[in-house]
Amino acid sequence: MNAADTDASLVAGHDIRKTFRRNTSEFVRALDGVSLDVRRGTLTALVGPDGAGKTTLIRLVAGLMTADSGTLTVLDIDVARHPQEVQSRLGYMPQRFGLYEDLTVQENLNLYADLHGITASERRERYPQLMAMTALGPFTKRLAGQLSGGMKQKLGLACTLIHAPDLLLLDEPTVGVDPLSRRDLWEILLQLVHGQGLTVLLSTAYLDEAERCGHVIVLHGGKVLAQGPPQQVSALAAGRTFLAEPPPGQKARELQARLLDDAHVIDAVPEGGFVRLVRKQGDGDARDLRDGALANVGVTQTPARFEDGFMVLLRQAVGEHPIGGAMTLDRPVAGHVGAGEAIVEVRDLVRRFGAFAAVDHVSFAVQRGEVFGLLGPNGAGKTTTFRMLCGLLAATAGTLKVAGVDVRRAAASARQRIGYVAQKF
Ligand SMILES: Nc1ncnc2c1ncn2[C@@H]1O[C@H](COP(=O)(O)OP(=O)(O)OP(=O)(O)O)[C@@H](O)[C@H]1O
Ligand SMILES: [Mg+2]
Repeated sequence: MNAADTDASLVAGHDIRKTFRRNTSEFVRALDGVSLDVRRGTLTALVGPDGAGKTTLIRLVAGLMTADSGTLTVLDIDVARHPQEVQSRLGYMPQRFGLYEDLTVQENLNLYADLHGITASERRERYPQLMAMTALGPFTKRLAGQLSGGMKQKLGLACTLIHAPDLLLLDEPTVGVDPLSRRDLWEILLQLVHGQGLTVLLSTAYLDEAERCGHVIVLHGGKVLAQGPPQQVSALAAGRTFLAEPPPGQKARELQARLLDDAHVIDAVPEGGFVRLVRKQGDGDARDLRDGALANVGVTQTPARFEDGFMVLLRQAVGEHPIGGAMTLDRPVAGHVGAGEAIVEVRDLVRRFGAFAAVDHVSFAVQRGEVFGLLGPNGAGKTTTFRMLCGLLAATAGTLKVAGVDVRRAAASARQRIGYVAQKF
């Protein structure tokens, strides 16, 4: 590859606007004057919160819709005029990829190979490479519907790569993927870019993922807030990021709430017993904060990360109020369970499906006022446990109490005390 090649833009957009009309005839400006530049051989992340316009922009690049105004060239082709020319050279994995769940892994691969007119000899070369890359080799006969979330994403990626595209578009490829598979997927992406020189444009709402890319485009409300290497975004918070240590007897969460109320603070999040805070532009140290929320609090400066710079950008875009400030309940939860008592009590919980134990002697307790996380890879039994807690699924054995009510005996009255958001709502 020569120097001219590395400098080439594979995606070049200028002043792109796209407005949707909702059913209520209200207009939504999904993209509001977006300009972007994706260089050959780079890994570029579109990063932004829900509704920022990421999917809309990726769909425009894929030639699946056209902008209201502006110009967009993909692989040196005017994509609005010649979408099919672009699509034949593109790999595109949408936010919900169309795997056929009633076909096996191998049948899905064959289907995508057929769609792209891949010859038998190309398949003989390509299949083993893709199976080795995704470690799906042992599962070619398994139905796609029975793969874990991470394996489904890897199969989707393999199908997308079957025709060796010049540009890969991935819309939130790691959503719903467990941490281990997420790591695998990232290994694959980095190998594709740094090992094989592929150009990848992906969208993500995870800031740690954006930080791993060579180039980021920060989108918010349809506007580009920043564009460049992630370090440039981190640098926006340079010298303004601190770790505050809560005084004895105070929880990090309480200190965080006080900090978020302080006009000098842009962002505050608990981190390993401390509170990580980003202060507004000022004289560099946290002196002016010490009269307020930080009185009697030990504070040390810490290097800025991508998320710190990102919060600075969002605050500039959104205005005064801290973003996602501490949530308070208008009406504190009343109940006959006192503080320090367990609201949820699970002992030796078992759920079998035939010979398979999806939940195998699980015990835990959740105290009142506590945020409790069930952590585990895809298939670990998290959803099954949730469904039993809500009385939606009968337990095979064990005790299950919510607010003192035995869920196994009085599911309906226990359920009245629970708010439940399902994985697929
Ligand atoms: N077909 C459509 N009709 C009406 N409004 C739409 C349509 N597609 C997108 N929008 C709106 O455009 C805005 C941008 O949406 P988009 O899906 O691009 O965001 P996103 O960054 O991909 O969000 P997410 O992280 O939730 O996937 C949102 O307000 C969305 O509701
Ligand atoms: Mg999206």
